Amino acid sequence: MIEMARIIAASQNKDKIKEIEAITRKFGMDVVPRDDAGVPKVEIEEDGETFEENSYKKAYEVMKLCGETTIADDSGLMVDYIDGAPGVYSARFSGEDATYDSNNEKLLGLLEGVPYEQRTAKFVTVITLVYPDGETIVARGECPGHISEEKRGGKDGFGFGYDPVFIPEGFDKTFAELGTDIKNQVGHRGRALAELERLLECYQKNE
Ligand code: IMP
Repeated sequence: MIEMARIIAASQNKDKIKEIEAITRKFGMDVVPRDDAGVPKVEIEEDGETFEENSYKKAYEVMKLCGETTIADDSGLMVDYIDGAPGVYSARFSGEDATYDSNNEKLLGLLEGVPYEQRTAKFVTVITLVYPDGETIVARGECPGHISEEKRGGKDGFGFGYDPVFIPEGFDKTFAELGTDIKNQVGHRGRALAELERLLECYQKNE
């Protein structure tokens, strides 16, 4: 039996780990959450100015702690009218005690009266894989769209974060209204995962 290699996930989020593992298993690699792998619990400050910096920092710090290949991701929303905000501050846009609702209210407030064609935005995900020898793979996925004028959808429990105010390009409904299948097809995370798969294929060929 061929033994599976393993990658340590800097995140503890089970859904994210499942999504990443669906790709890495094709390359013979399981994904193990950092706590399950016994990585010492150290707070890693996400103080980078880009998604690349933050996801690299998370992956690199955990790799240093355990000496194994590590994967991390960082995501957020960038809105053109407010110069790319909230960006890396997406989770805490409306302050330290931010909730999804308070973040959405703040965003809609800042865009009040702004016409649809100027409400352009994109979701971004960056996934970074760091090998113990320092070799790094960076996969970026983007999903362009617009910010709606009010929150829509999410009533049946689907969607989180800015999903109720983000309308992906080519649709007239928000992510929260469109549901999981469409979000996986056109979303930033799905695109970053597809790019990760492409890069791993290249990496294995070159090994
Ligand atoms: P994280 O880096 O994946 O934890 O994302 C940081 C923040 O970006 C989240 O707390 C959300 O506010 C926002 N965000 C990231 N991805 C999504 C998404 O797919 N839908 C809605 N909001 C998202």
